[in-house]
Amino acid sequence: MSITILAFDEINLLLCVLILTLTVVYFWLHRPQGFPPGPFGWPIIGSLPSIIVEEPYKAMAKLSKTYGNIIGLKTGRRLVVILNGYDTIRTALVKNALAFSGREIDTVQHEVFNGRGLINIDYNDVWKEERRFTLMALRKCGMGSLRLEGKILREIKYMMADLDERINQPIDLLDILTQTPANVITTILLGKRFDNNDTTFLKLLSLQHSFTRTVNRVGASNFFPTLRFLPGMNYANEMHAIIDGGAKIFRQYIKDYIRNFDSNSEPQCFIDMAISRIETLGDHATMLYDSLSYTLWDLYSAGTETISMTLNWAMQYMVLNPKIQYKLQADIDDVVGASRPVSTTDRPSLPYVDATLNEVHRMSTIVPFSVSHRVTKNAWINGYFIPSGTYVLPNLWSAHHDATVWDDPETFRPDRFMKNGSLSKRLELIPFGLGHRECIGKQLANMELFLIFTSLIQNYRFSIPDNIKPPTSKCLLRAVSVLDPYIVRVQKRL
Ligand code: HEM
Repeated sequence: MSITILAFDEINLLLCVLILTLTVVYFWLHRPQGFPPGPFGWPIIGSLPSIIVEEPYKAMAKLSKTYGNIIGLKTGRRLVVILNGYDTIRTALVKNALAFSGREIDTVQHEVFNGRGLINIDYNDVWKEERRFTLMALRKCGMGSLRLEGKILREIKYMMADLDERINQPIDLLDILTQTPANVITTILLGKRFDNNDTTFLKLLSLQHSFTRTVNRVGASNFFPTLRFLPGMNYANEMHAIIDGGAKIFRQYIKDYIRNFDSNSEPQCFIDMAISRIETLGDHATMLYDSLSYTLWDLYSAGTETISMTLNWAMQYMVLNPKIQYKLQADIDDVVGASRPVSTTDRPSLPYVDATLNEVHRMSTIVPFSVSHRVTKNAWINGYFIPSGTYVLPNLWSAHHDATVWDDPETFRPDRFMKNGSLSKRLELIPFGLGHRECIGKQLANMELFLIFTSLIQNYRFSIPDNIKPPTSKCLLRAVSVLDPYIVRVQKRL
């Protein structure tokens, strides 16, 4: 009798475990009705293996041929949607901007920034006000106007002085290509440039370097937050150390600038304007100053790495495509000559320079998955239901490598942006993203890239040194497309 009772209990227990397991599996794998299709999901980890691959943006572009341009994934409890192709990205981020402009609130970055700064703030009134102020202040500091040109050209002179010391030597250009935009952005933010061996500058550059590498590593735990509890997978401490380290440097500048602040004199740079605004607002000044130190880090870091990486790709394409380099040199010689520096007023006469920079943006797509977005209210796009809270990755790389839009998309060919000798703009080129969260530094980036790249090509010839392997165009990191280091030889032209 007792044996029968025990067996009955065992069956009950087994049934309970089975029902519990099936319920858990159902909830881990269940997708809401109308959610976009996507690859098979494993119990617990869901479709994580489909996205944690070597070149996820390429893998997703390939999967869009099977599932369509909107791919739905489930990674653990998290719903993820990948937007492929220009039309789909535009439909979501522009036509449905009110639903698609949030930032994910369960990522390592969000935990570290904790509502401070600009890039990682969710779509809310604080972000709207911070973005409005930041844009206004950057414009007052010269972004988008000729006033900034002199400051950029001054940095270019320092850059060329450094390069002049390395003529005919095999060098990796990346350090030089990083110091120049770093000093442009600190001039705008702090009204100050740094010598290359200044300890604060070296610290900022080193934090930036570590930041890019850590952002690339946190990817998996952002898709699948439970991974953060596994040993060796919690990058939050590393991220805290880097970002808090950057914010600490800027906090010291804020203190110094507050000490010397004079409300009667005209603000000279971004930090002056921000202090003046906080002093006027008064009330929660401590909180606002804390957030300002993170905004300064956001702008410093976004304004340095993106430009240096784009220039690094551009110079790689120049050594791999000497004919394009010679054509650019001939154009610049005709329009600017040798006796004066280039100016943005030369830009309309140098369409092939812009065509080349556009092609560099397209081929490299240095932020291939953009910055992730979050859906802030239930939305329908192209017939699919995307619930509030879904993590969204706009696959900018897919828009730039879509064979139905770009002929022979894997070939570097600036001529695709030329028509009858003039620059032909292409809507599908979206390196700065689209919609409400579009890059705030787009105008600054366009001006810097034009002036720095044209000056380099005007003054030097770049080639692969004898007995050195040509660059591979291999990407080492993927959240920001970091190139495998390569060596060039620099010869003086003028
Ligand atoms: C080649 C240069 C650059 C590229 C390719 C680039 C690209 C991007 C992309 C793809 C985004 C995300 C857009 C989205 O969320 O949909 C972004 C956001 C942002 N970028 Fe840039 N960027 C560049 C230069 C800069 C510069 C120079 C600055 C500094 C002023 C800057 C500051 C920012 C900020 C603050 C955001 C966040 C905007 C927000 O969340 O409202 N970027 N950028």
